[in-house]
Amino acid sequence: MLDEHVAGHREIVPDPPPGDIAIRLQCVELRYGPKIVLSDCSMDCQRGEITCVIGLSGAGKSTILRVINGLRHASRGHVFVNGDETTHLSDRKLNEIRRKMGFAFQYSALFDSLTVGENVAYPLWEHTELNPTEIRERVEKTLETLGLEGVDKRMPSELSGGMQKRVGFARAVVNDPEIILFDEPTTGLDPIMTHVITETIQNIQKRLKATCVVVSHDMPSVYRVADNIAMLFEGTIIENGPVQQIKASRNPIVQQFLEGSEDGPIPL
Ligand SMILES: Nc1ncnc2c1ncn2[C@@H]1O[C@H](COP(=O)(O)OP(=O)(O)OP(=O)(O)O)[C@@H](O)[C@H]1O
Ligand SMILES: [Mg+2]
Repeated sequence: MLDEHVAGHREIVPDPPPGDIAIRLQCVELRYGPKIVLSDCSMDCQRGEITCVIGLSGAGKSTILRVINGLRHASRGHVFVNGDETTHLSDRKLNEIRRKMGFAFQYSALFDSLTVGENVAYPLWEHTELNPTEIRERVEKTLETLGLEGVDKRMPSELSGGMQKRVGFARAVVNDPEIILFDEPTTGLDPIMTHVITETIQNIQKRLKATCVVVSHDMPSVYRVADNIAMLFEGTIIENGPVQQIKASRNPIVQQFLEGSEDGPIPL
C-alpha cells in the first residue's frame, strides 16, 4: 500500500503483522528535536502475553510506550497496534485505539484537581456507558485490589508517592483494556506492594487475556511476570524473545545487564 501522508513523500507501508502479534514496532526512529532516541528499533509483542522492556536508565524505554500509545510519533518506520498502522492515523482513529489501551505512567500523572476516585473513574466516564452506580462499584473494587480502600475521596497530593503510583495503576486497568502499558510499575514501592502489583499484573493478564508491555528495571519482578523480554540498548532492541532465550543469550551486553555487572561492554 502506498502512503502519501509522509511530508509529501511516498512510502511503502509494510503488511500488518499476523493476528497473534498485537503490537509491532518496525524500524522505528524517534527524535526529540535533534536527539535521536530510538533508531531502527523493532520489536513484536505477542497477543495475550506479557512483554517486559528492559534497558539502562535513559535508554528510551518510556519513549517506546509513548510511541505505542501514539503520544509520540515515529519519524521513520512503522508502528502497528491490533493490525492498524498508527504512525499516520487521524486523531479520531488514534482515540479509538487508545480507548482499548491502559497506560500506567512512570510518574503517575494523576489529575491534581480530581479526587482519587474521580481519577480512577475517568476512563469509565470517557470510554464506557456504565451508570454512576456501576462506575462507583468498579472504582471501589479496583482500589480495593490494590490495597487502597477508603482513599477515594482524598486528593492525590495527600497520598504518598507509592500510593499515587498505585492509583495511576488502578486508573490504567479499571476499564479492562485489551492492551496495558506499565511504565516502571514497581519502582519506589516496598517489597509487599511490589508483590501486590506483580500479582495484579499477572491476574489482569490472565483474566482479560490482555497484551501487557511492562517497562522495568526490577529484574526479580521481570522474571516473575514476563513471557517475553525485549532489551533496549543504544536506541535499538538488541534481543527480543521468551525469557529463557534472553537468559541464555550470548550477547555480552544482555549478559552484563542481567548479571548487573560493572565489567563488560556497557559503558559506565
Ligand atoms: N520530552 C523530551 N524532550 C527531550 N528529550 C527527552 C524527552 N523525553 C525524554 N527525553 C530524552 O530521551 C532519552 C530517553 O528518555 P526515556 O524517558 O524514554 O528513557 P527511559 O529509558 O525511560 O529512562 P528511565 O529509565 O530513567 O525512566 C533520555 O535521554 C531523555 O533525556
Ligand atoms: Mg522511563
